[in-house]
Amino acid sequence: MKRALATLYLLLAALFAFAPLLFEAGEEASSPWTPFIASFHPLVLHLPIGLVAAVLALEFASIFNKHAETGARNFLWFLTALTASLSFATGYLLGEEGGYEKELLNDHLWAAGIFTSICWSTLAVNILKKNGFIRFLSLIAITATLVLASHPGGLMVHGDPFANAPWLAEEEETSPEAQYGILPLVPDPFNPYTDVVHPIIDAKCVSCHGPKKKKGKLRVDTYEALMLGGDFGPCIEPGDSYESLFVELMELPMDDEEHMPPEDEHQMTQEEIDVIKWWIDEGAKADVVMARAEAPAAILPFLVTGYRLLPEPTEEELAEAAEEEARKADEANRGNVEALLETVSAEVRDSVQFMSLTSSKLRFKPNGKAEDFDNDALEATKELVPNFVRIDLSDTAISNNALKHLKNAERLEILSLRNTEVDEDALEHLEDLENLESLNLYGTPTGDDILKELPTLPNLRTLYLGETKISTETIAKLQTKHPEVEIIGDLR
Ligand code: HEC
Repeated sequence: MKRALATLYLLLAALFAFAPLLFEAGEEASSPWTPFIASFHPLVLHLPIGLVAAVLALEFASIFNKHAETGARNFLWFLTALTASLSFATGYLLGEEGGYEKELLNDHLWAAGIFTSICWSTLAVNILKKNGFIRFLSLIAITATLVLASHPGGLMVHGDPFANAPWLAEEEETSPEAQYGILPLVPDPFNPYTDVVHPIIDAKCVSCHGPKKKKGKLRVDTYEALMLGGDFGPCIEPGDSYESLFVELMELPMDDEEHMPPEDEHQMTQEEIDVIKWWIDEGAKADVVMARAEAPAAILPFLVTGYRLLPEPTEEELAEAAEEEARKADEANRGNVEALLETVSAEVRDSVQFMSLTSSKLRFKPNGKAEDFDNDALEATKELVPNFVRIDLSDTAISNNALKHLKNAERLEILSLRNTEVDEDALEHLEDLENLESLNLYGTPTGDDILKELPTLPNLRTLYLGETKISTETIAKLQTKHPEVEIIGDLR
């Protein structure tokens, strides 16, 4: 009788030792019962763990007390072997449904098979004869295989427990670059996944979907894990971003509870979402390589050196950048203006000066007697007009007609017509001067019609109207019409 039982147990031991060889993951569920039975795996797997602890305790006690209940011990061994077999079987079915990382699953299955096998063989040895040495060996083996079986199992479901170990956390990085990452320079040729898409996901999603946390059972830190998906299965549908949960959750409105990343986290920019959608629509491949010159529009923003995964620039930063750009353009133009100066008459050349050593901006003031400078003299400066930022025509002999030469003075900021014969009828020629900040009409015959003749100039801030024919009443109306302009003069 004993022999028969022992033989049966040894056969079972052999069965479990070799069962993993038959396993193939990801097959179609063979029967409608499969998923149902498989779902008991998380329940039954804890039974052999508890029982083995109990039986180990009993075995340990028997070292000191030879009379420890042999019957109870064998019964516990039997229960351990039985529940281990059940959890092996349910786990086997669960694994067949697929959705787990292959390597971990394989390790888990083999360790569990051997564990179960040792349970049965220990029971057989116990029944046959009490060979202390063999039993001692099997106790060690059983402990080792239990650890080997549970570790990959836990990893598959709960992530790596050691990732949270306090002694591994010492180098927590906190700089914004470390928190959000800076896209490294994109090489040429480049791989859209590794060089663009992965760094974005790494910066914005891995904190919750990586080795440390695994929210929704989703990890996105490696290509394989990303394609595997989470609780809802694959979240990327290669070739179809519209059908991809990954994109859907990012595009939900901010106040939707399921929006990803969650509301208080660093959000994806539209450019980032667009490039991920493009990558998915192109098949979500990890092994494509393309030349920078062939890069489609969706990727272009990411080819810019040092593109940061940081918040959008502020208005101030944008203004600074625009100013810097304008300064560079101005300097680049210097050579052209110098060449232009060679083409104009010596008289004109003597009347202009560069605003600084590097700038292409010019200031203009007639050289020589002001009263000799007339409309024709101004016309001679025609070529240079687009580079004038300051023009001082005070006390010259110009008339209204001269101002038509200033129509394309698009950089002009300051214009003085002080003590000339120019009046309000000339002002229409100035209507396109968007940069004009200051206009001086002091001592001119300008009259009340200025109210309707003065164009709205977006940057005009100062207007000199002293010693003109304008009435106090008109000045008041003018001020109401152009509130941002400061009107200066001895007003009557
Ligand atoms: C602050 C943590 C956090 C961040 C950051 C985060 N997520 Fe999540 N994510 C979660 C949580 C929590 C869930 C699970 C929600 C649930 O189970 O109801 C989840 C679930 C998901 C799921 C569903 C997985 C499944 O199959 O159940 C997807 C897809 C997802 N997140 C995508 C993203 C993307 C893309 C990013 C980066 C743009 C991101 N998440 C960033 C916390 C986060």
